[in-house]
Amino acid sequence: MTEQAESSDTAKPLLFLPASALMHHGHIDDDHRELIGMLNRMLLAAGAHGTLGGAAFAEGLQSFIARAERHFRDEEQAMAAVAYPQLAQHKLHHADVLRRLAGALRDTAVQSKVAAAEVYDLFNFILDDLLRADLAFKSFLDATRKAKCASAD
Ligand SMILES: [Fe+2]
Ligand SMILES: [Fe+2]
Repeated sequence: MTEQAESSDTAKPLLFLPASALMHHGHIDDDHRELIGMLNRMLLAAGAHGTLGGAAFAEGLQSFIARAERHFRDEEQAMAAVAYPQLAQHKLHHADVLRRLAGALRDTAVQSKVAAAEVYDLFNFILDDLLRADLAFKSFLDATRKAKCASAD
């Protein structure tokens, strides 16, 4: 998501989950909040000095990747449970995000310091991409809920 909350602690604003991206389904929203919190903790660490030590950044990124993998598995199960028609496509998207994160981790291994601005741009891009794909599932859930309400009338 490109919407951001203001923060005086970093040169760039912190990332946050906009209300428009809330799914209201299982623990997907909590997972997204947790993932964004992990990104923001790394941004705050980078923002304090303008850079983040490569090793510290790699450690944070590794934890984020592990948490994202768990979220993707859970989300795919939630999608399968409601027969989401775009599940196969969404799985490919998840795999693509993980590939790009693994690439960022490899790049970090050769840098002793990572610039805060670069970290911010990477995270904003990942978050935007990650949540944008979930919006199609949100639309599907909203349509399913509406159809259920209409049939109950
Ligand atoms: Fe997703
Ligand atoms: Fe998600």
